[in-house]
Amino acid sequence: MLSSFFTIFIFIFIFLFASPLVHAWRPWPPSSNINNNNNNNNTSSHYPFSDSKKYEGSSEFVQLRYHMGPVLTSNITVHIIWYGTWNRNQKKIIRDFVNSVSDTTVPHPSISAWWRTVQLYTDQTGGNISKSVILGEEKNDRLYSHGKSLTRLSLQGVIKSAITASTRPLPINPRSGLYLLLTADDVYVQDFCTSVCGFHYFTFPSLVGYTLPYAWVGNSGKLCPGYCAYPFAMPVYLPPSNRKALKSPNGDVGVDGMISVIAHEMAELASNPLANAWYAGQDPTFPVEIADLCEGIYGTGGGGSYTGQLLDAHDGATYNINGIRRKFLVQWVWSHVLNYCTGPNALDH
Ligand SMILES: *[C@@H]1O[C@H](CO)[C@@H](O)[C@H](O)[C@H]1NC(C)=O
Ligand SMILES: *[C@@H]1O[C@H](CO)[C@@H](O)[C@H](O)[C@H]1NC(C)=O
Ligand SMILES: *[C@@H]1O[C@H](CO)[C@@H](O)[C@H](O)[C@H]1NC(C)=O
Ligand SMILES: *[C@@H]1O[C@H](CO)[C@@H](O)[C@H](O)[C@H]1NC(C)=O
Repeated sequence: MLSSFFTIFIFIFIFLFASPLVHAWRPWPPSSNINNNNNNNNTSSHYPFSDSKKYEGSSEFVQLRYHMGPVLTSNITVHIIWYGTWNRNQKKIIRDFVNSVSDTTVPHPSISAWWRTVQLYTDQTGGNISKSVILGEEKNDRLYSHGKSLTRLSLQGVIKSAITASTRPLPINPRSGLYLLLTADDVYVQDFCTSVCGFHYFTFPSLVGYTLPYAWVGNSGKLCPGYCAYPFAMPVYLPPSNRKALKSPNGDVGVDGMISVIAHEMAELASNPLANAWYAGQDPTFPVEIADLCEGIYGTGGGGSYTGQLLDAHDGATYNINGIRRKFLVQWVWSHVLNYCTGPNALDH
């Protein structure tokens, strides 16, 4: 009974906060969006479904469907655009993450095992999403070519600049390229911090010349870490006694927080690159995709305000997945085979 109630609640929540045209990700809304009359300081009332630990295993309301469009079945090449100021260490953390996705030599629980759930999704010919994800070319946009406040359309302008640059333009790779546009911590993007931490979509031929699947993820380190880098920073609306952030595994709260958002967008871009393949819900402009279904769940028992069972590194940092030379915290994704959210650090399956 309780779990059904909360499952409905989650869907109301998802449809209220999903934004049109693009898939948007956020950890959860500020309490004021849920209950404007909420003036008590009981932490659990800050979340719409904090008592639901069942969601991880609850499937009756999830109707993920395949809508006949393509998925990324060819070897996936991730081309990164670094927009604004990025230091070497930040770039290294993110490159190591991307390079880890296909690396089967990493010890359990590994990112390649996490990606195996994504590989379960197929196109209409039965072709699975590729297991091969490699880091492609990179482009620096150090001088903020489109300013420090970007709209969804100007993000496409940034991509156009990167593929048409006179020196070392990014390759044009509509079928297997995944363009990852990452904005530095002093860049504001439309709806960043108020309703999204990242999203994926595809470029318009009229603007960019090609239909290229891309994802944008912002570094929230300065603007809203409590919103987009949870649980390495805490939302300001929590009472101080509940604001104990976890230590991030790579020593950079903004970038460690981006990793899970990047993983989220890569999983969804691979399974729904043109917004006509795998998603739940009736309306393709409000798709609920394979990572949306598992927002905020990083381990067994996760749901609501609880991350689920995580792992402790020797230095006291919190993580759930191993990569090459590093540890990461990455949310789980929905398995349409199991009918629940899963990840390689699951304790019970
Ligand atoms: C919040 O907590 C404080 C101290 O724990 C208490 O004095 C206060 O009455 C509480 N406020 C509400 C609205 O419950
Ligand atoms: C806080 O909320 C929970 C769940 O609704 C309830 O069981 C608990 O008694 C509440 N605690 C306080 C101090 O109001
Ligand atoms: C491809 O997808 C099918 C259906 O989900 C699954 O049974 C199979 O194991 C997948 N193959 C690989 C190599 O992941
Ligand atoms: C795809 O990647 C695999 C290695 O993961 C490689 O063996 C294969 O040749 C690649 N295929 C193409 C078409 O590039």
